[in-house]
Amino acid sequence: MKITVVKNYDEMSREAAKYVAETLTSKPDCVLGLATGDTPIGMYAELVKMYNEGKLDFSKARSVNLDEYYPITPDNDQSYRYFMNYHLFDKVNINKANTYVPDGTAKDVEAHCKAYEANIDALGGVDVQVLGIGRNGHIGFNEPDAELVRGTHLTALTKSTIEANSRFFASEADVPKHALTMGIESVFKARKILLLVSGANKAEAVRAMLKGNISTNCPASFLGLHNDVVLICDEAAYSLV
Ligand code: F6R
Repeated sequence: MKITVVKNYDEMSREAAKYVAETLTSKPDCVLGLATGDTPIGMYAELVKMYNEGKLDFSKARSVNLDEYYPITPDNDQSYRYFMNYHLFDKVNINKANTYVPDGTAKDVEAHCKAYEANIDALGGVDVQVLGIGRNGHIGFNEPDAELVRGTHLTALTKSTIEANSRFFASEADVPKHALTMGIESVFKARKILLLVSGANKAEAVRAMLKGNISTNCPASFLGLHNDVVLICDEAAYSLV
């Protein structure tokens, strides 16, 4: 794992955007693996800025997102589809038909998960997968558990994740209790992984990922086994390493 420690959130966002921009510039039809949450918002803003300055062209790019709440409709302002449209897709020239987010309205969940996974393969695999990390070490919505699922699947969110995400909802009771998420193997199929972490509340997760044993109790601990992971971490998040 290549580790870059930066001063703060803004620097993390700029460095991350540079990394994604390099991938997009060298391969205009690349497949971007995207994440939601607070962490990548600044990176998306930087990418939009570069696009507005004429430095980036998303017209040939494709994207697949890590996860989506279930059940949720795409027009719900808490859905990850809404988030992606708002922070990136509506602000750059990506063809939305080439952007994929798990469908929070899917009736046949199993068939949808299979098709989502097959689509990643049909696109040629993910060139760079952007990841954040949960305070409990989750990646995507692969929560700490006795076992981790390989492919895209429906999962129950843990109490800690529901609590953490309740900040976006009117109340904790409104947070969906399930999500569709790419699995550990789906994430590992990406050629490059860009992991972004900011803030003291992630420091213990970063310590566990880098210094703890490799364990399904900390799904992010497996990332050290992938051969091309770049971690961009701010000082606060790196403070316990
Ligand atoms: C989001 C995702 C999650 C987040 C993680 C951190 O698509 O897959 O694993 O990356 O929960 O969330 P934030 O960035 O809000 O701290």
